[in-house]
Amino acid sequence: MSRANRAARVRIGVRCVGTLLLLLAIALLLPERNFSAQPENSEPPLRIPSNVAWTNETLALIARGNAFRGLLLARRCNHCHGEEGFSSVPGVPNLAGEDRLSFWKQMQDFRAGKRTAQVMQAIAEGFSARDGADLAAYYAMLPTTSDPQDQRVFPEAMADPALASTALTLVVFGDGQRGIPPCQSCHGPVSYVKGAPPLATQNGAYLEEQLEHFSNGARANDINVRMRSIAKELTPEEMRAVSEYYGAGLGPGVSSR
Ligand code: HEC
Ligand code: HEC
Repeated sequence: MSRANRAARVRIGVRCVGTLLLLLAIALLLPERNFSAQPENSEPPLRIPSNVAWTNETLALIARGNAFRGLLLARRCNHCHGEEGFSSVPGVPNLAGEDRLSFWKQMQDFRAGKRTAQVMQAIAEGFSARDGADLAAYYAMLPTTSDPQDQRVFPEAMADPALASTALTLVVFGDGQRGIPPCQSCHGPVSYVKGAPPLATQNGAYLEEQLEHFSNGARANDINVRMRSIAKELTPEEMRAVSEYYGAGLGPGVSSR
């Protein structure tokens, strides 16, 4: 290789290193950017409300639930949900007479993180789909009639009885103008939608909290956005009205299933 050639190569080499240093300096001076962020107009990721679907297999699994096995498993639940399925704390739901499908779905949703509730998610993790069916069978059998021994906070008189007529209208007629169907057309006794729990023996404070959570999206495990779309239409006063109404034992009919 001639001397001139070698000199030319060295010059090219120096230029390359110079260019690289310049690029590095520019890269360091550029403001930090998050290149993994989604482009502004992209769709938000799809969120599936629940992994539960009412297939024949699922319905058969729930129907096979063994109430006696459920009774044994329920010893882990009694100190919160009550010995007889009626809780002594207004914010903790009653489980006596609970609808089997609804009960089972909630356990699955807690387990899958589809319904967020710190205490229940941790508890539900320890129970299989079959355990859930057994527990559901047990709680569905517990009577909803009062017993002098139980520590229930249900029924609890309405704090504001003037709200009873607001509640009655929503429960029986809904509000066609806002697209709210009557509560009793899904929650009974007029008809039941699969997975809709009876509300007639539930604690008012618990119901009100759930309605708030549906309306602000904190609870989003309802298939087809059924409850979120209804709760969004309700005013805070209407939520209080229907919750206190059911919580006072005024709701029509207790599920006979
Ligand atoms: C430490 C108290 C505690 C214990 C123990 C507990 N739960 Fe719960 N459970 C709660 C609370 C609080 C909620 C309401 C969660 C929320 O705010 O969404 C709840 C909700 C539920 C629901 C949903 C009810 C509905 O109407 O949607 C089911 C079903 C349930 N629990 C079943 C069980 C079972 C079965 C056990 C025992 C294996 C159990 N829980 C043990 C506190 C408890
Ligand atoms: C179109 C049917 C439908 C109508 C109408 C309806 N609901 Fe629901 N509701 C459901 C279903 C289904 C669920 C169970 C959601 C899930 O899968 O977690 C539910 C759940 C609820 C819950 C949670 C209960 C619990 O134990 O956690 C409350 C509270 C509730 N509904 C209140 C109401 C009120 C009040 C009305 C009337 C203003 C109403 N719903 C009307 C279908 C309906």
